[in-house]
Amino acid sequence: MSDNKKEEGLMEKIVSLCKRRGFIYQGSEIYGGLAGTWDYGPLGVALKRNIINLWWKRFVEEKEDMYGVDAAILMNPKVWDSSGHVSGFSDPLTECDKCKKRFRADTLENKEKCGECGGKLGGERQFNMMFKTNAGATEDESSVVYLRPETAGGMFVNFKNVVDSFHPRLPFGTAQTGKAFRNEIAPRDFIFRAREFEQMEIEYFVKPLEWENAFEKFRLAMKGWIKEVGIKEENVYELEVGDGDRAHYSKRTIDFEFDFPFGRKELYGLAYRTDFDLTAHSKGSGTDLSYYDEETKERYVPHVIEPSFGVERTVLAVLTSAYTEDNLGGETRVYLKLSPSIAPVIVAVFPLLKNKPELIEKAREVYTNLKKVIPRVAWDDNGNIGKRYRRQDEIGTPFCVTIDFDTLEDGTVTIRNRDNGEQERVLITELENKISSAIGN
Ligand code: GAP
Repeated sequence: MSDNKKEEGLMEKIVSLCKRRGFIYQGSEIYGGLAGTWDYGPLGVALKRNIINLWWKRFVEEKEDMYGVDAAILMNPKVWDSSGHVSGFSDPLTECDKCKKRFRADTLENKEKCGECGGKLGGERQFNMMFKTNAGATEDESSVVYLRPETAGGMFVNFKNVVDSFHPRLPFGTAQTGKAFRNEIAPRDFIFRAREFEQMEIEYFVKPLEWENAFEKFRLAMKGWIKEVGIKEENVYELEVGDGDRAHYSKRTIDFEFDFPFGRKELYGLAYRTDFDLTAHSKGSGTDLSYYDEETKERYVPHVIEPSFGVERTVLAVLTSAYTEDNLGGETRVYLKLSPSIAPVIVAVFPLLKNKPELIEKAREVYTNLKKVIPRVAWDDNGNIGKRYRRQDEIGTPFCVTIDFDTLEDGTVTIRNRDNGEQERVLITELENKISSAIGN
């Protein structure tokens, strides 16, 4: 089998595992779906939230120079006029004369002939990717608003608010996580290119001449994050984006690309946005967004470094990196080698048998006590122990704890490690320490 075929197979396996085990479902599935939308099930939402929470902890809570914000998704449409999105946030579109299907022109190999019906493709035109809607009861041009296409905008318009409330010294940053919406012409590759997705973004404001230091600082921080969250570093590449390919606001951009099963594609972006946004919003709003530097007694518009992380692309890169097949005890098994810091379940607790009240009672006691000190503990008493291990392996649970008859005699339990299948007998009183040290709590 060629490597490509293997990789194609991997994507199908990941999609199928996600559906079967309650990570990710097609959006509006029972109505035939809605292209470019995905719904997260119980394990998917846990994985996604753990990723967002870990990111927030690392990039906001642990920092002295970072300020979190949570701006509204609907913003005054002038925001997107000033930022250049109304005039320039578009992809080239082409339409088939015959079947009327629309394609993103820059991704087509044959720009003349329709890949679906063989009809003739029309000329290219720019298609704006912002979703438009109307605020209030009047549906005319005066009530048009957009669903935000990036979380960044909410941070620029709140720059002055944060400065006025906290008086931070430069350099400092604002951070925001949340939904963004893009009317992608061709959503594809599972959750990779969706119409509704989430971003985790930072706008880091610096003195104009100090942007290079901050750019380098965040390049390293992004590499550190990639490793910590469990994305295989050897499959990540930094691409210096050339002059003609950068977004309209950027003077330097690095794309972090990842070898997804369908090819090498953008995972994250790091951009130097200069003073483009603050200057544009100052002009557009009539509010002065310059900064008075107490040290130098000068007033100027700060420049911005923007690390931008897609949540769904993180989920997909993590799943691609974690998906493992091996042979354990003569049996093929599938497991997700997820880091305990983001695994939906960290420990699963099993009573050896379901119909022995004394075992259930003891197992419940262990479960309840662990739950008080370890996050994300699950209970599982379905099927035999072997099946329970397989089920937990498949969702990436690092540890399983089994309560058996010996537990009742000597207060010990079996703790089993997901990655090597090894089992160890430990005292219940040692369990918490053992797991805490293994997950680095
Ligand atoms: N504020 C800068 C910005 O939005 P971008 O490169 O357009 O830059 C940033 O998007 C990140 O958002 C991407 O690197 C990717 O992780 C994620 N992203 C962008 N479009 C996406 C889509 N249609 N579906 C899923 N994730 C997307």
